Amino acid sequence: MRDTKLHKFVFDGEDLTESELAGGLLFYGRGQCATCHSGPYFSDLDFHAIPFAQFGFGFNGFGIDYGRYNFTQDPGDLYTFRTPPLFNVTKTAPYSHSGAEPDLAMAIRAHVDPLAGIDTSALSPLDRTEIYQRIARWAQEPVYSVELSAQEISEIVDFLSTLDFDPEDER
Ligand code: HEC
Repeated sequence: MRDTKLHKFVFDGEDLTESELAGGLLFYGRGQCATCHSGPYFSDLDFHAIPFAQFGFGFNGFGIDYGRYNFTQDPGDLYTFRTPPLFNVTKTAPYSHSGAEPDLAMAIRAHVDPLAGIDTSALSPLDRTEIYQRIARWAQEPVYSVELSAQEISEIVDFLSTLDFDPEDER
C-alpha cells in the first residue's frame, strides 16, 4: 500500500487539515472529479476530452492534436486523451498531454472553465476554431462545466497533495 497522507487518513485514522478535507469532499462530491479520476490509481483508464491549451506543434501539426482519434479514426475519439493517475501530481508539472499548463490550480480550472486560461484575442483564427471544436467535444463528456471558486480549487490542490508519496519507499 502506498504511504500517502490519504491512506493514513483512511486506514490509520490520521488527520487531514480542514482544507484537505474540504478538497476531498469537492473531489468526490460537487466537483465530480472521481467520475473519471476513479479507482486505485485515480484514473478510469479511459479517454476523455479536456480542453487544455495545446502546446507545441502537436501530433497533427499547427498546434493541433486529435488525440486518440489518430489511432482509432473514430470521430467520437477526437481530442480525447487517457485520464492520468494523480499520485504525486503536485510534483509532476507541467500538466496535460502536451505539458501546456505549468500550474496545478489552472490545470484543474481548465477542466471546468477552459476559456479562463486562454486569451482568445491573441490567437489566430485557426487556433480559435480549434478551441471551439475542442470545447464542443468537451461538452459531450459526462461531467464538464462545474462552478468552482478559486478557494475551492485551492482546497482541491491541497487534497491532491495528500496523494504525494516517496517512490523510494516502495522498493
Ligand atoms: C470527464 C473526465 C474527467 C473529469 C470529470 C476530471 N478529469 Fe482530470 N483529467 C482528465 C483527462 C482525460 C486528463 C488528461 C487530459 C489531457 O492530457 O489532455 C485530466 C488531467 C488532469 C490533471 C493533470 C494531470 C497531469 O499529470 O497532467 C489533473 C491535476 C486533474 N485532471 C485533476 C482533476 C480534478 C481535480 C478534477 C475535478 C475538478 C478532474 N480532474 C475532473 C479527465 C477528467
